Parts: sequence; structure tokens; C-alpha cells
Amino acid sequence: MEKNNYKLKDLDKLVSLAKRRGIIFPSSEIYGGLASVWDYGPVGVEIKRNVKNLWWKSFVTERDDIFGLDASILMHPNVWKASGHLDSFSDPLVECSETGKRYREDHIFILEVQTKKENKIISIEASDEDEAKNKVKDKILSIIPLNESKSSNNPSPDGGTLSEPRNFNLMFKTFIGPVEDSSATVYLRPETAQAMFVNFLNVLNSSRKKIPFGIAQQGKSFRNEITPGNFTFRTREFEQMEMEFFCSPEEDESWHDYWINFSLDWFKKYGLRDENLMIRKHDKNELPHYSKASSDIEYLFPWSWGELETISNRTDYDLKAHSELSGKDLSYFDQENNNRYTPFVIEPAMGADRSVLAFLCDAYCEEETEKETRTLLKLHPDIAPIKIAVLPLSRNEKLTEYSRNIFDKINSIYETQYDDTQSIGRRYRRQDEIGTPLCVTVDFESVEEDNSVTIRHRDTMKQIRVNSDNLIEAIHDQLKSFS
Ligand code: GAP
Repeated sequence: MEKNNYKLKDLDKLVSLAKRRGIIFPSSEIYGGLASVWDYGPVGVEIKRNVKNLWWKSFVTERDDIFGLDASILMHPNVWKASGHLDSFSDPLVECSETGKRYREDHIFILEVQTKKENKIISIEASDEDEAKNKVKDKILSIIPLNESKSSNNPSPDGGTLSEPRNFNLMFKTFIGPVEDSSATVYLRPETAQAMFVNFLNVLNSSRKKIPFGIAQQGKSFRNEITPGNFTFRTREFEQMEMEFFCSPEEDESWHDYWINFSLDWFKKYGLRDENLMIRKHDKNELPHYSKASSDIEYLFPWSWGELETISNRTDYDLKAHSELSGKDLSYFDQENNNRYTPFVIEPAMGADRSVLAFLCDAYCEEETEKETRTLLKLHPDIAPIKIAVLPLSRNEKLTEYSRNIFDKINSIYETQYDDTQSIGRRYRRQDEIGTPLCVTVDFESVEEDNSVTIRHRDTMKQIRVNSDNLIEAIHDQLKSFS
């Protein structure tokens, strides 16, 4: 596939394209919207479905060592006790003395800046130091994260001062049944992972598979994030694609490396550019409570590098914790070596929404043509929501009949859209903006003279004329040129 030379710097351009073209809408918009909650429109739902299906194909169906699962969102509250989420799934929070607004302590940076008049201390809310620096116009003399500040009088981004940090649990609570008391409390899952641990025995016994093997699922997770933002990057309701790979304690490190490389290759295969991807190993002090080692796959978003996926070595932490609390033995007997152990787990944990956002940012492109700026999404054809658009040059009866036949023929094989509204130029632009790789144009010559149609290539805008009898083969060849 021809590489995109454009780098999206202004996220708002994508947000506005997404709204205009039915990719992503603000949720409940007619009521003024709900902050940081988004709905996928008719085009976006196809893109997201394609991303999820491609993940499922690579991580589950193409392999013989991974099983799928679709577990409930509501689980027994002891699941969250054993996993550690009830005690330690929290963010330290600081509050502004003026407005009462709360911030994640690790998302506040204290800066000394030099303005024309004076040097002053300010604070900036950002997910990392680079993003904080980008938000400041004045000369920066120093920058430190809030938790390294010695002062007890730190300024808030809102104008007041910031309180001391307090811990805030990120799980959403709700109640089973009509009584709202603590015995009825359940939680919306904050990760899909735990269902794979509590179903380990069920899958092991029903599949009769030997270790190593994995269990994968996709689904919604919920976190009451204090500072959601950057479009769909951090939201309170989001979808995850996670896999727990159970292996022997001797093989954990080699499998960890394997899944890091496998995941990175997956993102590249579907079009993310090398230069926008990196692997970042977690420092010891940022490891989650369950992890012996974690590496993130990060993408260079318009605002800064951001995590797409964490691949963790969860050791035997979860299976042992669930064994202890439930009283069920979750160990494994290795018949070949005649020994019993609790399996170690390697977990590639990817966000579906974040991956979609990265694919959109990477595909977004503006090109100067003679007449205008052409905006297009250079999506990999497997991710593109529509593969082919059939565009008759006019609504003439004969042309319509011919074009409808062409549409039926292609649509039985590829996701196809029929569009006969407005000028052909506008229709091309619409298809470019949703990333349709090929447009098939039907004109009067097609019907009256040569039984041929034109295929237009999204990225090069080159057009070729092909006989309609050979159209499917020609489309097949043209699509291959994108991957
Ligand atoms: N089971 C491990 C786990 O959940 P995580 O790093 O917290 O690990 C995995 O989450 C992935 O889920 C992240 O890399 C990210 O892509 C996605 N994710 C996490 N929180 C999110 C949020 N608030 N909004 C959107 N995606 C999120």
C-alpha cells in the first residue's frame, strides 16, 4: 500500500470529518451531549466492526491455540476482590479550591514560565510531559509532575490551589435487584480479562487442550475516568480486545516477547506507519499491581504518544488469587513432565476504540489538487467501511438499470454502496472521505457502446477502463494494490 505522507496534527479536523461523514457522533447530542461519550455512526460502526473482526481473525480463528469467550459484564463482586480492583484500582485525585473540579494527580504538571512581564508558576493538565509542553506558549524554565512538587500551595489549572491527593476508585457501582444496599452491590467490569481467569477451568475441561493456550474476548469495559478526553482515546465506556495466554512459568518471558512482536506486526499489517509506532517498556514503579513486566505499544497521536495496547506478564497472580478466594484449585497438571503448577499468563490487552482512532489518524490525509484541498482516509481496504462505490453518471433509466446490475454483482462479494446523488466530483469526494478504495463509474458509453466501466483508485486517482464481464477480477487486482 502506498504510504501516507501526511501527518495529522489537529485532531479537530478528524472530529469534524467523523461527524460530517457518519463515523463518530457525540452521544445524546440533541440533549447537549454527554461529555466524552461517543456513538459510532453508520460508517464508523463498519470500521470498528472490521477492526474487531481482523483482531479476532488474527488472535483467535487463524490459530489453533486460542479459544474465544463472550462473558457477562456483571460478575460476582468477589471477582473484583480477588483481582485487587476493589482495593487498588484507583487514581490519586486533587481538587481545585476555587471550582471544586477534580484532576488526576499524575495528569498535572507544574511549570515555571517566563512571560513578557514576569516569571510565574502555572499548572497544566496533560497526559504526559510532551503534551503539557505543547500546551504552553511562553518560554518554559522548568517542568515537573505534581507528585514531585515540594510545595503545598500548587496552582490549579482553574485558578485556585490544589488539594492534597485522595484515592478514588474507578469502578462503576450498581445494584442487583430492587434493594440498593451493599449486599446487592455489583460493578460494571473495568477490564474483560477477569472473565478469562474465572473461566480457565471451564475452558480447560471443555476443550481438553494442553498448556500453552489462550482465551480471548472482546467487549465493553467501564472506568469512571477522572480526566477522559482526546476524542475516543480515553472514555468511561470503551471496548477492549484482550487475550490471556496461559503458559508454564519457565516459558513466560519468551511468550511475552512473542506477543509483543505479534501485536506490533498486527498494527503494521493493517496500515499504521512504522514511524508512528513504538514499544515502551514500563519502569518498575509504573507496573500494575499484577504485573512482573509490561510493555506498551504506543502510537504518535496528534497530541502526543499514547498507549494502544499493554502486553503484560501477569505471572500466576490472578489464578492464585481466584483459587484462594473461591477455594477452587486452578492449578494445572502437566502429564508429560509429571508436575503440577499454576500457569503464568501473558496478556495482550488492546483497546478497540483507541485502535480505531489510531487507524483513522494514520489514514487521514489532505492533498492539494489544482482546484481544492482533497481530504481522504487512506484506510487499509480490510478496514475501509465500503470497498466499492458504484456511481452512475446520470439517473437516466437505462444507466440506472445497468448500474443496478453492476451493483448487485459486486455487492454479493464486496461491501458496496450505490450513489447517484449530486455531481460525480462531489460523490468522489464523499467516498474519498470515508476511505472507499475504488469507485466504479458507469457512463453512456458503458450502456450504449462498449459494455465497459471506469475504475477509479482512491489514492492515485488513476482511472482504468475495464469490460464489465471482467469487473470482479479487475476489482480483485486493484484492491490487492492497496495491501
Ligand atoms: N486487562 C489489562 C488492562 O485492562 P489496560 O492497559 O488498563 O490493561 C488495555 O487497558 C487497553 O484498553 C489500553 O491499552 C487501551 O487501549 C484500552 N483502554 C483502557 N482504558 C481506556 C479508556 N478509558 N478509554 C478507552 N480505551 C481504554
